[in-house]
Amino acid sequence: MQGRVLVVDDEKAMVLALKGLLSKEGYQVETAGSGEEAVKRIETGSFHLVITDLSMNGVGGMQVLEHARRVDPELAVIMITAYGSEKIAVQAMKLGAADYVPKPFDNDELRLVVRRVMDTVLLRRDHRRLLEQVQGAFGFEQIVGQSPAMRRLFATIDKVADTDVTVLIRGASGTGKELVANALHYRSPRRAKPLVKMNCAALSQELVESELFGHEKGAFTGAIARREGKFEAADGGTLFLDEVGDMPLETQAKLLRAIQEKEFERVGGNAPIRVDVRLLAATNQDLEAAVRAGRFREDLYYRLRVVELVIPSLAERPEDIPLLVEHFRKEAAQRFARDPKALTDEALRACVTHEWRGNVRELRSAVEQALLLAPGPEIGPADLFGRPAVSETASPGALPASFREAKGGGGGRHAPPEPAAEDARARPDRRGRGQGAGVKESPCNSSRG
Ligand SMILES: Nc1ncnc2c1ncn2[C@@H]1O[C@H](COP(=O)(O)OP(=O)(O)OP(=O)(O)O)[C@@H](O)[C@H]1O
Ligand SMILES: [Mg+2]
Repeated sequence: MQGRVLVVDDEKAMVLALKGLLSKEGYQVETAGSGEEAVKRIETGSFHLVITDLSMNGVGGMQVLEHARRVDPELAVIMITAYGSEKIAVQAMKLGAADYVPKPFDNDELRLVVRRVMDTVLLRRDHRRLLEQVQGAFGFEQIVGQSPAMRRLFATIDKVADTDVTVLIRGASGTGKELVANALHYRSPRRAKPLVKMNCAALSQELVESELFGHEKGAFTGAIARREGKFEAADGGTLFLDEVGDMPLETQAKLLRAIQEKEFERVGGNAPIRVDVRLLAATNQDLEAAVRAGRFREDLYYRLRVVELVIPSLAERPEDIPLLVEHFRKEAAQRFARDPKALTDEALRACVTHEWRGNVRELRSAVEQALLLAPGPEIGPADLFGRPAVSETASPGALPASFREAKGGGGGRHAPPEPAAEDARARPDRRGRGQGAGVKESPCNSSRG
């Protein structure tokens, strides 16, 4: 799309010439023969660009400019000024004009200015739309829950999202800590800047520090080039430290210093680097116990939990379960292009009373799998819970009890092939559900989790 332009001048010949010139370039051009008319058109029309003459009888170019800025800050204005009126042109730029073109101008000059301004307008609009989409995808709206506990959580997120305060997000595995981090960032004034995530678990001290602060070439074996760390990558935005309780003790001291002094050095370097980063952290550990045991620095603990958000487990908010089931059922049906099969009343009751030790993540996987694999038109309890569960004591290679039952055709389900068992055999690496709070994102949805 080339863009929509409003040409304003009280000189008829000029309006026609500009219209001809710009139409040839592919723009959709409308015209106004006076400032008064322009003001009205701006109110009702949807233009990307206004090209107005500065001096007109009645409402002049400056007033058109001011009006346009007020009505639609994304609407760009190019001022056409008389020869020798640079001072006024500068004034117009101060008031927000995108550019000015002194008279007399040649056609190429005008074409270039219009092209450049229009490109900027369209780019800015695309950027805003993308941002809105991202905010929609990561905002509050994606955190499902109406229980009093979740409402309190939303209220707190609202209170702290637009500040730079450090937030410690706590909750059992799969309760939505990362979603809350997303919401905090995308509701903050930093939303257009990066949200950089880093998982502190299962990394050696050397690796964590190089990830966090970057490293200089030759800092350690394998450091073949200088590398920027997450702190630098997050400059102007937010750094989310996931599983912060697993950070090595020595690194904790360096992190604390980086937070307090807003300054750090790359591994193997000694030039201080300054950044402006908002910090969020998450853990499902008992940090207080870790502090008592000397595994987590007390000073860092207090520095991180300026505000603490605790996400309740599913067991503490069973009233949210039907909402979540509905949400995941519809969302998965759309994503997988399948019928949004409904749950039977029995299945829904079973969901509410089930012990979801993997919390929302486990519930989500169960609903997705049932939707994909349920043989009938509805999702019954067996589709959700009749799947082979790897028992914690099962020896490698042993068939889980529910698998044997399924093979035996018990429960009135007609095998073969039993879809659940099929799936389990096809993916031997897949861990069954119900393994407890340590259950991690399954491969099929880790990209979103
Ligand atoms: N309230 C919720 N509404 C909708 N989806 C949710 C909600 N809570 C969690 N989820 C979904 O559950 C999955 C797990 O969420 P998330 O990764 O944020 O959990 P977590 O607390 O960070 O888990 P872990 O401790 O294992 O890192 C994701 O797919 C997420 O989209
Ligand atoms: Mg997480």
